[in-house]
Amino acid sequence: MKHIVVLTGAGVSAESGFSTFRDAGGLWEQYDVNDVASIEGWYRNRELVLNFYNGLRIQLRNAKPNAAHEAIAALEKNYNVDVITQNVDNLHERAGSTRVLHLHGELTKVRPENGVYDRTGREDEVIDIGYDQCSLGDKAPNGQQLRPHIVFFGEAVPNIEKAIDLVESADILLIVGTSLQVYPAAGLYRYARAGVPVYIIDPKDVPVHDSRLTHIRAVATKGMQEFMDILAS
Ligand code: OAD
Repeated sequence: MKHIVVLTGAGVSAESGFSTFRDAGGLWEQYDVNDVASIEGWYRNRELVLNFYNGLRIQLRNAKPNAAHEAIAALEKNYNVDVITQNVDNLHERAGSTRVLHLHGELTKVRPENGVYDRTGREDEVIDIGYDQCSLGDKAPNGQQLRPHIVFFGEAVPNIEKAIDLVESADILLIVGTSLQVYPAAGLYRYARAGVPVYIIDPKDVPVHDSRLTHIRAVATKGMQEFMDILAS
């Protein structure tokens, strides 16, 4: 079976009701990224950061995967599929994708600050809290304050090496709904081998100038239908 690697960003979850980050009206217009998504912001005001992710967790509990998440999951019938997502939601998993690598963490998980993960990327101390809230004073078994299991700006991206390996072994690379503004994720497509077709689904212009690239200019649900038509042709 051919190996399809799918790299997704906030756009794949937009039709499930999640705001993207950099579009007009997006999250980074409503909140200061330095306050709620940076390591400096965390140490400045933990309560603000916890509340921000508590709110997103409630939103996630009420959200449903859309037809794009479902189409990506359905690719597994005929292909060997790996999803690499910058999203912290669990909509790929809930749609049925079985191999999902989260680059920027997961909303439904927390971990101690200054823990093993920060030094090694190992998830030993990561705790699944589902859709529960996490408050100031909630401690990990080691006595440290719990923090969201989110990669903040200013932190390393421990899963990037695994992601590079996956992209290097792809026969087809599909990119859905990411502005490709945030590194190192934005540079991943460059690891696709020579001759590997690269598709990008996005209703807007994309900042990629690569002769292998086919831009499917559509929202994720429509774009996935077009992508599947291309695969079938
Ligand atoms: P962005 O908000 O930067 O980009 C979203 C992309 O999705 C844009 O290119 C949009 O044109 C496109 N888009 C909008 N609606 C769409 C739809 N219905 N279907 C398909 N595409 C659509 O989001 P990301 O690229 O995911 O990190 O942002 C990357 C990272 O920056 C995030 O993981 C987050 C953020 O700061 C952290 O918070 C650590």
